[in-house]
Amino acid sequence: MDPVRNPYAPGAGQRPPELAGRDREMRQFEVTLERVASGRPERSMVLSGLRGVGKTVLLNALRGLAVQRAWGTAKIEARPDQSLRLPVAQAVNAAVREVAHRHRDPDRVDAVAGVLKAFALRTELKDRKGIRWQPPTDVPATKGRADSGDLELDLIELFTDVADLARDLGVGIALFIDEMQDIETEQLAALCGACHEISQQGAPLIVVGAGLPHLPVALSASKSYAERLFRYVVVDRLPREAADRALMIPAASEDTEYDGQALDELYRLTDGYPYFVQAYGKVTWDAATGSPIRTDDVHHAAPEAEGELAVGFFGARYERATPAERDYMRAMADLGAFTADGPVLTADVASELGRKPQSLSPARDGLIKKGLVFAAERGAVAFTVPHFGKYLRGQRG
Ligand SMILES: Nc1ncnc2c1ncn2[C@@H]1O[C@H](COP(=O)(O)OP(=O)(O)OP(=O)(O)O)[C@@H](O)[C@H]1O
Ligand SMILES: [Mg+2]
Repeated sequence: MDPVRNPYAPGAGQRPPELAGRDREMRQFEVTLERVASGRPERSMVLSGLRGVGKTVLLNALRGLAVQRAWGTAKIEARPDQSLRLPVAQAVNAAVREVAHRHRDPDRVDAVAGVLKAFALRTELKDRKGIRWQPPTDVPATKGRADSGDLELDLIELFTDVADLARDLGVGIALFIDEMQDIETEQLAALCGACHEISQQGAPLIVVGAGLPHLPVALSASKSYAERLFRYVVVDRLPREAADRALMIPAASEDTEYDGQALDELYRLTDGYPYFVQAYGKVTWDAATGSPIRTDDVHHAAPEAEGELAVGFFGARYERATPAERDYMRAMADLGAFTADGPVLTADVASELGRKPQSLSPARDGLIKKGLVFAAERGAVAFTVPHFGKYLRGQRG
């Protein structure tokens, strides 16, 4: 069918034509926003899940809810080895700009800008690399607020002042942090500490995070009370009914239907993983000759979808690994054949490779840092990418 009218959207953070199966999270977040804006105690949300399950898309949708309520919002993507201070300053600045123009008292706005500048200027030289953003130049930096150099204390002061400004307008500030697992432990602890203090004050500012499945563990390891600070939401593959909706609703907007068997086959192939749903939906649409889309069309399209996934979704990630890391992943994949690609013990990986466990730590740590693998339960690792084990086994023929 006409590729120009193809409604599907495979891609990183690509807004799906139908955000299927996330109604509960959206409703919960609306309640959170209302409660925070009215100064009631409330936990913020942290989304976690495998690659391609729709964390970024959900984070963006939650942000949309905050924007609808005229909140100040901003989003950061955390990076390994990058300090939080300047990215947070930049994000807070953007969020404040969204609300400041509605504020009646320009002096208050300038005072907050001065604190933000003081906070930003405390960034160490080495932490500036790669960030072009400069703090506002039209106000002088405040002295003695948010500029102690202690990230937690400075965040508390910055967040307090920014939240006060938003409260004057009856709204709040929401910061969204994607790839949150990449924040190093000490900074994560500082961020949790600041969120804890802010929520005790009842100040209308929340931090919403998203990251890989080990993010909740990383948060708890950084501060023992992190579990009580956030509501952890596991973003997972879509149940059958939601996966069908993700396919059918966009098609219906183009007057196209699926027959039931085609949907059966698509669910079997995609396992309900949102990225796969979009990828298979897209090629199936192009291969189909008309409505309804049939099983034959799916079969026709499947090799192309697999090919595209092999290059874009799996291959691109595999390429980023060193030879030692690739060996490690292949051993994981071989073991995974017996565990339905669930977590595998690092000790088993070592014996599979005929190596001492300690000698494999650099490969394991490298893979974790690259976000290809995560430490599941104690002494076990798993792929962050769904179907990755199956893909690697397929590579071997
Ligand atoms: N609820 C949903 N319904 C339908 N499609 C979805 C849904 N959520 C995400 N998608 C689609 O899945 C793909 C992956 O989404 P997204 O980039 O948000 O995943 P992610 O979890 O952030 O992945 P990564 O860990 O790689 O960053 C996109 O093409 C998006 O359109
Ligand atoms: Mg993402």
